Amino acid sequence: MSTFSSRCVLAIFTMAAFTAFQIFFLRNRATSIVVPGIVEQNNLQKKLPSALIIGVRKGGTRALLDGIALHPLVRIVRHETHFFDINYGKGIDWYAEQMPSVGENEVVIEKTPAYFTNLKTPARVFQMNPGMKIVLIVRHPTYRAISDYTQVFYNKLELNKALPNLEKEAFTFWNGTQVLDDTYKPIRNSLYDIHISNWLKFFPLENFLILNGDVFRGNPYSELQKLESFLGLEHQIDHSQLVFDKRKKFFCFKKTTRIRCLGESKGRKHRPVSQQVFQNISQLLAPHNERFFSLINRTFLWD
Ligand SMILES: *[C@@H]1O[C@H](CO)[C@@H](O)[C@H](O)[C@H]1NC(C)=O
Ligand SMILES: *[C@@H]1O[C@H](CO)[C@@H](O)[C@H](O)[C@H]1NC(C)=O
Ligand SMILES: *[C@@H]1O[C@H](CO)[C@@H](O)[C@H](O)[C@H]1NC(C)=O
Repeated sequence: MSTFSSRCVLAIFTMAAFTAFQIFFLRNRATSIVVPGIVEQNNLQKKLPSALIIGVRKGGTRALLDGIALHPLVRIVRHETHFFDINYGKGIDWYAEQMPSVGENEVVIEKTPAYFTNLKTPARVFQMNPGMKIVLIVRHPTYRAISDYTQVFYNKLELNKALPNLEKEAFTFWNGTQVLDDTYKPIRNSLYDIHISNWLKFFPLENFLILNGDVFRGNPYSELQKLESFLGLEHQIDHSQLVFDKRKKFFCFKKTTRIRCLGESKGRKHRPVSQQVFQNISQLLAPHNERFFSLINRTFLWD
């Protein structure tokens, strides 16, 4: 072999070894999984999330995500990827492509509220990252159900479809007794005990941060501080960044000069529901709530 071609071979070998070393080094340095090959300029790289906001639907997940995005080291995925429930077949490279390019110290969070109630999601999340930090923001399950129903109602209205009536949909009869219809989504999504027990089969309670959506709505600051701590970050979100919108009656979030508020479909007035229907739903949810409290070792005042 000529000296020239052996030098070429040596050079190629050295480059390959160096790349392999780089990939190895990047993989082992980062706290969350680094996707080899997708390394971009300025030392930014695609990083899979180290935390997920999994629900609850209508619990304030969007506002929570916008709120935590105020932290200088938090980078969010703004759209719901639905990776673990719907798009899993697209593969982890597809999921990685949905992620922002971030610096080494930055934390990536994704939120898809359907994860909480999806049966396949916990095992899939565990397989990707058994140390995943899981954030659940709950609220009074009866109000949540009515809010969910309200959204379904307006979606159907827009599509000119038959409009549902909560009084008819929420209940069914079993052996002559009124029970909840747990196949009706707005009701099913409020059976927190059933959904959390699916998650607890894979993750211990320490992996969860459970936030109070009813508190968050009136005082986002305290819940955001809990989330900062849970993510291992210093408290850097300031009171002055939370701006109350008097018209919509909730907070907007101010990052630099830009204020981010929720869209028109959020904070919408609930469909009217009679006191009797409200009471019956609450009464039938009560045993589910109790079971939820014992599973998470914490109580909420949901009378
Ligand atoms: C159905 O209701 C009747 C009357 O209340 C009761 O005697 C019976 O045990 C119930 N059946 C079941 C399967 O719970
Ligand atoms: C509420 O529950 C009571 C007692 O079970 C029942 O008699 C009543 O018909 C229910 N009303 C509605 C609106 O569901
Ligand atoms: C439940 O909570 C109590 C008080 O907050 C705590 O002392 C206890 O260790 C917890 N138990 C479990 C199983 O997490």
